[in-house]
Amino acid sequence: MDIAVIGSNMVDLIAYIDRLPALGETLEADDFAMGCGGKGANQAVAAARLGAQVMMLGKVGDDLFADNTIANLKRAGVDTRHVHKVPGVSSGVAPIMVDRQSNNRILIIPGANKHLLPADIDRAAEDLMRCKLIVLQLEIPLQTVYHAIAFGNAAGIPVLLNPAPANAALDLDHACRCEYFIPNESELELITGLPVHSLDEVHTAANQLLGHGLHNLIVTLGSRGALYVTRDSHHQAVAPVVDAVDTTGAGDAFIGCFAQSVVGGMAVIPAIERSVAYAALSVTRRGTQASYPSGEDFRRHHASAPSR
Ligand code: RIB
Ligand code: NA
Repeated sequence: MDIAVIGSNMVDLIAYIDRLPALGETLEADDFAMGCGGKGANQAVAAARLGAQVMMLGKVGDDLFADNTIANLKRAGVDTRHVHKVPGVSSGVAPIMVDRQSNNRILIIPGANKHLLPADIDRAAEDLMRCKLIVLQLEIPLQTVYHAIAFGNAAGIPVLLNPAPANAALDLDHACRCEYFIPNESELELITGLPVHSLDEVHTAANQLLGHGLHNLIVTLGSRGALYVTRDSHHQAVAPVVDAVDTTGAGDAFIGCFAQSVVGGMAVIPAIERSVAYAALSVTRRGTQASYPSGEDFRRHHASAPSR
C-alpha cells in the first residue's frame, strides 16, 4: 500500500444555478448532478486514478447512499476494507450550489463521518503500518485526526494534513507534527489569525506557522497556483490559465495528485507543479470526483498544455 487516506465520504448533490435564492424565494436551477465526494474520498480517488495503491479508512451511513459510495471507491481502485457502515446514521451529504462564475457554496452534513474514531485507527493498525503516507483532512472528528498524526509519528510514517474545511479549533501543536501541511488561503488565515489578501501577507502568515516547527508548508492559491514555503526557501507554482466551469473539489485533486507524486518518489517542487496542473484540469469539468482525470488522460492534456 502506498497511501492511507483517513477521512470523509459525502454524497455531493450539486445544483448549477444562476444566482442564489433570496430569503423565502423559490428558484429553479439550471441543472443537477449527484456524485461521490467528501474531501477524504476525493483525495483517495484522485491518487488512485493516478496509479497509487490507496486504502481508505472511513464511515458511511445506513442508507441508500452507502453501497454506492463503497462501490464507487472500489471502481476507482481504492481498498475499502476499512470503510464501514454505521447503523442508524445517515451518510455524509453535501448540498452544493455552483453559479455561472463557477463559484461554489457547500453545506456539509457529516452524518456517519462523525463516527470515525481513534479506535478505528487502532483496528486498522496492521494495514496502516504498511503505508508510505497517511493523508488527513478535517471532515472527521479532530480527536481522530490527532490520533492518526500520533500513529504516523510513532510508526515513522509521514503524515499529510490538509486542514479543510477551515476549523479554528485545530490545535497547531498537533498540526505541526505533520510532514506536509497544506492549507488554502482562507484556512491559513483562520489558523494564524493573519490577513492573506496579498502574496506578501500569505508569506508572513506562512512564516508564523513555520515558527511552530512545520517542515513543509504548501499554501494552495486557487487560480494562482500554490506556494511552497520552508524555513529558508519559497517557491510559487503558477497555475495554467483555464476556463473554469466547476472548481468544487479542486483542492482535493491537488492533494491526491501531490500524495501520489511524493510516494512515487518525486521531489516536493515538481510534485507541486504537477498537482497544480492536475487541479487546473479538474476545474474545466463539472463535478468533484467525476472531474478528476486518470493518469492517461492527465498525461495527454499535460503534454499538450501550452507552457507558460
Ligand atoms: O472539497 C470538496 C468536497 O467538500 C466536496 O466533495 C464535498 O463533499 C465537501 O466535502
Ligand atoms: Na471540477
